[in-house]
Amino acid sequence: MKINVRMAKEADTAKIAAIEKAVFSPEEALSEETFRWCFASFPEGFAVAEPAAAAAESADIAAAIVCRPTAMRLVTDEIYERKEMSKGDTFAIMTFIVAPHLQRQGLGDKMLEASLALFREKGAKNFSLACKEHLKAFYGRHGFREAGLSRLTLGGAVWHDMYLTL
Ligand SMILES: CC(C)(COP(=O)(O)OP(=O)(O)OC[C@H]1O[C@@H](n2cnc3c(N)ncnc32)[C@H](O)[C@@H]1OP(=O)(O)O)[C@@H](O)C(=O)NCCC(=O)NCCS
Repeated sequence: MKINVRMAKEADTAKIAAIEKAVFSPEEALSEETFRWCFASFPEGFAVAEPAAAAAESADIAAAIVCRPTAMRLVTDEIYERKEMSKGDTFAIMTFIVAPHLQRQGLGDKMLEASLALFREKGAKNFSLACKEHLKAFYGRHGFREAGLSRLTLGGAVWHDMYLTL
C-alpha cells in the first residue's frame, strides 16, 4: 500500500489513540488524554501516515509516530509524564504504531524512514527509543544502535534502549 507521511493535526490525536489502544495492552497504551497533552506541548513530534488514495478529510490513519523533543539522551519514565521539560534535539520516540490489519506489509519500514526525515526538518539530530527484544533487529536495520537495558518501567515490561544519531 502507498502511504503519505505528514505531520499530524490536532484532530488526528483521537485516531492515533484508537490505534494505540488496539495494538498495546492497557498497561502499555498511552491514553487519548496523554496524546492531546503531548500534541499541545510538542506538535513537532507527531507524524502520521494515511493511505495515498484516501480522501483528505475522512482518511483513516494507517500508522503514527509520536516523539518528544528532549535534552535527555535516553528514554525514561519522565518522557511519558505530562509535565513540561526542556526541549532538545534528541527526539525520544514515545510510540510507533501501525494499524493491526496493516502490520507486516512493509508499512513500518516506510513510515519510520519518512518520519525520521520529517522530524529532521523539525530539528531532530538524534533519536532515542525503548523497544522489546523482538524489535531490536528492525530498528538496527534503520541505523539504531543498542544502548543496553532501559530504565523505562512502562507496563512493567523489559525495554531495550536504542539510539540513532543522524
Ligand atoms: C512494530 C511495528 C510498528 C512495525 O510495523 P510493520 O508495518 O508491522 O512493520 P513492517 O511490515 O515494515 O516490518 C518490517 C520488518 O520488521 C520486523 N518486524 C516487524 N514487526 C515485527 C514483530 N512483531 N516481531 C518481529 N519482527 C518484526 C520484521 O523483520 C519485518 O519484516 P517481515 O515482515 O518481512 O518479517 C508494528 O508491527 C506495530 O505497530 N506493532 C505493535 C506496536 C509496537 O510494538 N510498536 C513498537 C514500539 S517500540
